[in-house]
Amino acid sequence: MRILGIETSCDDTGIAIYDDNLGLLNNQLHNQAYSHSKYGGVVPEIAARKHLIHIVPLIKKALKESSCKFSDIDAIAYTAGPGLPGSLMIGAALGHSLAYALNIPIILVNHIEAHLLSFGIEKKNIFEIKKKFPFIGLIVSGGHTQLVHAKSSGEYEVIGKSKDDSVGEVIDKVSSFLGLGYPGGVILSKLAKKSNGKKKYVFPRPMTKSNSLDFSFSGLKTSVFTAISSRKYSYADISKYFQEAWIDTLVIKSERAMNRLNLFNLVVSGGVSSNDLLRSTLFQKVTELKGTVSFVNHNFCTDNAAMIAYVGLLRLKESLSFSKKIRVYPKWSI
Ligand code: KG4
Ligand code: ZN
Repeated sequence: MRILGIETSCDDTGIAIYDDNLGLLNNQLHNQAYSHSKYGGVVPEIAARKHLIHIVPLIKKALKESSCKFSDIDAIAYTAGPGLPGSLMIGAALGHSLAYALNIPIILVNHIEAHLLSFGIEKKNIFEIKKKFPFIGLIVSGGHTQLVHAKSSGEYEVIGKSKDDSVGEVIDKVSSFLGLGYPGGVILSKLAKKSNGKKKYVFPRPMTKSNSLDFSFSGLKTSVFTAISSRKYSYADISKYFQEAWIDTLVIKSERAMNRLNLFNLVVSGGVSSNDLLRSTLFQKVTELKGTVSFVNHNFCTDNAAMIAYVGLLRLKESLSFSKKIRVYPKWSI
């Protein structure tokens, strides 16, 4: 069985073809960062227009490179939410049109669930991830910062989330405030490596003193902006101290979630999880707690269609009920 996945939730146009026996056959991605960088963040209308331009050529390329024909595709999966409404609608319209023309099933995939389960993309058997449940998922992306109790495939409880900005959003805003471009994650983490700054706790670790598993990053953003404006620290030092602050915050909350649920099995996903210092710090903490931590392969941390096709295939194989209606859910919770 082969499934074609479509990802258009934000500013990445993704198309992937996934086979239930052979795994990922092809994974196409067009990143629009260059079109948004001068604005310091994603401009929704530009994002939708770029999806429109790139999506059909990417499908052609994916089919050609994997030597597939449309008749080899057994189902379509697309990101139905959460995301930017205009961007989601491009994927939805194309997905439903293809499914209608080819007379094959269409599966609406939740983008957050796709990030959460993306560590399974490269497993030999698509159901191998079932052994991983139950676990705690830390999803850190441009749009979301969430802690999820993943009880079984399709059964999730959000146990903590950001009350304001996501961590990725703040990283991108800080980079833009420094005039360093968008997206900021890789830029700031490289810059942080150049710092010899030894100061501790220059920036707050927001909401870590309360018992809540929720996050709040907007105060941290304001503190960083204030420090930049004061010109007291070099850009490299700002990057280092800021990185330490958001990483500490994520590690403290993840530890609290594991202790609260007495579940020491952590899975980390989303674009921000490609950060190597976050990975090593979480690894050290979870090892101290005698737990296990899994990270998604760097290739699949940021937005991609492989995770959409993969979760679509799981849904289809599990024969769980899924909606066939043409819908997008910009605020769809996991
Ligand atoms: O998952 P993703 O592609 O998008 C959403 O679904 O929102 O994540 C993009 C985010 C951006 O904010 C980007 O700056 C951040 O991931 N990011 C990183 C790193 N690489 C990407 N943040 C910190 N360190 C990195 N190495
Ligand atoms: Zn994402």
